Amino acid sequence: MGLWTLLLLFLHLATDCVSLSAPANVSITSYNMVHILRFWPDPQTPPDARFTVQIHSTRKQRWKTVAECAELTAGQTCNLTSKLKDTFGYHMARVQAFRTNQTSSWTTSNLFHPLADTVLGPPEFSLSGCGNCLVLQIRDAPGTLSYHNAELKDLQKEMELNVRRTRDGAEFTLKQTYQQETVIQYLQPGVEYCVSVSFKSLINRNSVPSERRCAFTSPPPPQHTLFLVLGLLGGFTLVVVIVVGRFIFSRKVKNQHLSCMKFKSQPYTCLTSSLTEEDSF
Ligand SMILES: *[C@@H]1O[C@H](CO)[C@@H](O)[C@H](O)[C@H]1NC(C)=O
Ligand SMILES: *[C@@H]1O[C@H](CO)[C@@H](O)[C@H](O)[C@H]1NC(C)=O
Repeated sequence: MGLWTLLLLFLHLATDCVSLSAPANVSITSYNMVHILRFWPDPQTPPDARFTVQIHSTRKQRWKTVAECAELTAGQTCNLTSKLKDTFGYHMARVQAFRTNQTSSWTTSNLFHPLADTVLGPPEFSLSGCGNCLVLQIRDAPGTLSYHNAELKDLQKEMELNVRRTRDGAEFTLKQTYQQETVIQYLQPGVEYCVSVSFKSLINRNSVPSERRCAFTSPPPPQHTLFLVLGLLGGFTLVVVIVVGRFIFSRKVKNQHLSCMKFKSQPYTCLTSSLTEEDSF
């Protein structure tokens, strides 16, 4: 009798223990060295279930429960930033659903390498003209106050600038070490360029370029100057037309005068008439 009860109890517990479905898609995503674990509970999981998170580093070779994430509810995430201290090592995380007397099996994430897998966000910057050049001023490199600030700084040592001329889309790329202020030289004056900046690092290939910022190297020729130039050109053309016209006209008058001399043999009249013609011009 006692044995049977014990056996039944054991069977009951054994079936209960695996009757919760494991969570799906356990992943560690990281932006600027802030590492967040996410998971999706199985749709069958009852709403009163909780989730527990463990981490594992390839160096330590044992699973360790994350105290802050030992009783998560569905939809909650686990901030692993300060837990993954070994930024050069590989890590894994796993999640288990549990209820009173019930646990699911574990679902494990992919291997995660903090330095190589984090996504490097772009810096904030401003752009202004300096004649035939542009001054790029970094306002704020991201993550200055973050937990892994020193590691992040190492990933932000190199910058890549993409410079594009607005008029025709001609572009080139500059690589350089991080500095607060950069002068982009040998550009055309009075022309608009757009610049986008990203960080580059040998061990990290996940950088995100910034939005393009645009500026003129120097003030473009204003519209009224253009009109002035066109006006002057118009005036000059008019003057040329007048001078040429007058030249042709006077040649005609002289020819008339010559014919006068020739045919009428009364030069004075003709000469005066040609003079008056010229004076009234
Ligand atoms: C897990 O991820 C895959 C691929 O990203 C997706 O198709 C699937 O719907 C996800 N599962 C859940 C439960 O969200
Ligand atoms: C995660 O924790 C780090 C420090 O431990 C903190 O800087 C960061 O803001 C936290 N991020 C979120 C999304 O909670």
